[in-house]
Order: sequence, then structure tokens, then C-alpha cells
Amino acid sequence: MTVASPAAAASPAYERSDWASSFRNVSEELTDVSLVATRGEIPADLNGTLYRNGPGRLERGGHWVHHPFDGDGMITALRFDAGGAQLSNRFVRTEAWLEEEKAGAYLYRGVFGTPKPGGALANAFDLRLKNIANTHVVRLGDQLLALWEASSPHALDPLSLETRGLSLLDGVLKPGEAFSAHPRFDPGHHGASRMVTFGVKAGPRSTVRLMEFAAEGSEAGTLLADSSHSFPGFAFLHDFAITPNWAVFLQNAIDFNPLPFVLGRKGAAQCLKSRPGARGQFWLIPRQDGAFAGQEPRLLEAPEGFVFHHLNAWEDGDAVVIDSIYYADFPSIGPDQDYKEVDFDRIPAGLLERCRLDLASGTVTATRLSERTCEFAMVPPARVGLESRYAWMAVAEREQGNDPLQALMKLDLHSGETQVWSAAPRGFVSEPIMVPRPGATAEDDGWVLGLFWNGARSASDLVVLDAASMEEQALVELPLSIPHGLHGSWVAALSGC
Ligand code: CO
Repeated sequence: MTVASPAAAASPAYERSDWASSFRNVSEELTDVSLVATRGEIPADLNGTLYRNGPGRLERGGHWVHHPFDGDGMITALRFDAGGAQLSNRFVRTEAWLEEEKAGAYLYRGVFGTPKPGGALANAFDLRLKNIANTHVVRLGDQLLALWEASSPHALDPLSLETRGLSLLDGVLKPGEAFSAHPRFDPGHHGASRMVTFGVKAGPRSTVRLMEFAAEGSEAGTLLADSSHSFPGFAFLHDFAITPNWAVFLQNAIDFNPLPFVLGRKGAAQCLKSRPGARGQFWLIPRQDGAFAGQEPRLLEAPEGFVFHHLNAWEDGDAVVIDSIYYADFPSIGPDQDYKEVDFDRIPAGLLERCRLDLASGTVTATRLSERTCEFAMVPPARVGLESRYAWMAVAEREQGNDPLQALMKLDLHSGETQVWSAAPRGFVSEPIMVPRPGATAEDDGWVLGLFWNGARSASDLVVLDAASMEEQALVELPLSIPHGLHGSWVAALSGC
């Protein structure tokens, strides 16, 4: 594991069996286990908690999930304090988790195609959604929210990770209302920090509810802005981006045919299909406290391709600029495919592209920012909604070609220069989290925290990198084997504590 930009390798430098060995059940729940760095030292001024969410349970009664996204959510918390670190992990006690734990079998269908045992007949017309709380975890006020976009969040205790239960956020949400797993934290474009997020009611016309919550102090969790807008067409919106004045969505050119789901042959998410040659659309919704409040949303045609995640957006005169990770097509796992056998060469790669949305002319121009397969990108928290010089992301080891994510990259968005830390050949990274150093003035002053699957020891490791140089500060072998995860966040310790 070395720093530096490796030359483009001619062939992939990994074994698929190492990558796939991560797909397993987490069998234990640990509490405040002290960690020791295997290499280097944990920085003494890194104080706070890294929370991660992801599927932790992938099999019951000998039945494996059809897709890891159907795995039950498990929260991992890594607490850093004065050079020390502790780890805890807990499954989110969702209603379905408790029922299935008791039964020792899957009782619900998974959205990504996991059937209940018993074939199509047993699954037909069972349209209940299993809220598996496995996508993201954020802190809002005195609670931790485990997020899953098709339904309400679960509230957890931030210290003990005990599940308090489904949360309707003090009556803001209706029971079962969709609540995105991708909130954006506005660093202070309208006073104090806010959590801006949304929920989608999809159909032939789709409605987006945009919500803004106070994110700091005693007001944290208070709803500050709330608006709903309807748009023609089915909306698959996993993520969005914000600027001081806009919430920016990309409606992918996707159709939804629910019939195979209703008949028990496919999971709901397997009924999504891209419309070949069709274009998506950017939806710009004015934020309620912004300069365009009260105006109608702006609609602009997007480039071809499919987007799950955006990096960031900002305003530049009459233009809104948004950086997103584009796939040539919607990557789906069909009913007869085994996700562990996925052929990376045959599925589309995620590539970072910039779109400049000229609001005066209504035109959109796209530019490729990097040719390297990437996912899970972020800018420093203080630059959310503003132009940022740097971004950090998970990338493939090869500079071109689609492979699993094995390295963490810092990208200079002005010069295109990159710095890479690699876990290849046997390590497989997850989303990197950039943590600013307290009192930092430079954008890249801080650390990058990354959990990765270490195929050599069939367990998870934590790496702490210097965010500016991408040099390794510490590597910690964790006493836990965590399947490839989804999203997470950093909560700084209160100063003086
Ligand atoms: Co996501």
C-alpha cells in the first residue's frame, strides 16, 4: 500500500474472490473496543466520530440476498479521542429485522430482488416495503438517523447506537413517507448550518418535497423550510446537490414497470429500466430563503447517461455548475445474475463529469473531469454549495477501465492533478470521508478516513490519510469484518469536551 500515482496497469490487479469475500454476515455487535494502530499513529487532534452504514446481514436460514443492497443496515461507529480510537457496531433494529431475527428466515421481499422463500407465488401481490435502514447515517440534534430513501428514517442513540425506532421528525413526516438517504449539509449560506434534504413520491407525475432543518445548537432538527413541486414523468432521484439559492436534481431517463414486481418475479428496483437514447432532465428548485424564492423550478436537458451521486454544485453568475458521476447506462442486477460473479468489464464505469447549466440561455455543456472509474466523491464540508478546489473519491486502481474501487484519490479540480493512496491488490475501499482539521484555513488541511475490505485477512481496516498529501498517517486493523458499505458521516467532538 503506497502513495503516488501508479502508472496505468494493463490488466486488473485484483482477484474477484478477494472482493467477493466481503459478502458475509456480521455475527457480532461490539461495544467500545479500543483500537491500536498497526502502522503509524492516529492523529491526536482528530476528535469525533466516524459513523458508517451498510448491509451487515446478507443471509438468513441459508437464503442469501439477491443483491447486497437488500442487506439489513448496520451502523459502525469509530470514536477518535486524543490519539486513541474505539469501535462499536449495532444492527438497526427495524421492525422487519426483529421479526426476521425471531423467525430465522426472510419474511419480506427485498427491493433489489431478494424474494421470500417459496417462489413467485409466495411473493406475488406482497407489496410491503421492508425498510432496511442501510444507506446512510447522519447526526441531527440528539439523534442519529439511519436513512433508507423509500421510507422514514430510524432514530438511534448517537453514543450507544441503540435503536429508538422509526422517526417522523417531530411530525414533519407522514408515516411511511419517503425521506432521502442523501441529505446535504449547508455550511451556513443562510445563517447557521442546515440539513437540506428531500422525499420523492414517484409516479406518472412525481412530487419532490424539499425540506431544510436547523442542524446545530438547541434548534437542531427544527424544520425551517418546506416546499413541494410536481414534475412530469417517473422520478428516480437518489441524490441531489445544493447551492445557496438552488436545490439541483437530475431526473434520470428511467421508466418503471411495476408488473414483474406485483407478480412476484422481480424486486421493485429491478423494474427500473433506462430509456435508450433518452435524455434526463435537471430540475432546479429555488430554495425558500434564496434569491429566487417563490419562482417556478427551472428545467434543463441533461447529457445522456445515468447518475446516482453528485459531487457538488455552485453558482457562477447566471450559471449553475454541477459535478456528477455518470454511467453510460443504468447498472442493474437481473433476476438470474449473481452479484458475486459480476463481470466488471461488462458493466458501465462511473466517471466524473461537470455540467454547466446556463440559466439565461437554457443550455447545458458537459466536460469530463477524470477518466478514472470513481464513486463516492466529496468536497470539504465548508465548500458544499460553493466552488471547491479539491475533491476526494474512491477510484479503481487502473487509470482507465472498470474495476472495483481499490484506491482513494484527491483530485485538484483546477489543475486536474491527482494524488492516490491505494489498497490494491487485496484491499477494496469504500467511501472516503474528508475531515477538516479544527481551525484549518486551507481547503485540504485535514484527514481522509476510509474503511476498506482487506482480502488478505478477510476483515476490515481503517486508514487515516493526510488530506493534502494523501500520505498514510495510520492504519488500524479492525476486529470486525464489515461487508462493502454505503455511506457515512463525520461528527466532530464538541470543542472543550
Ligand atoms: Co448513495
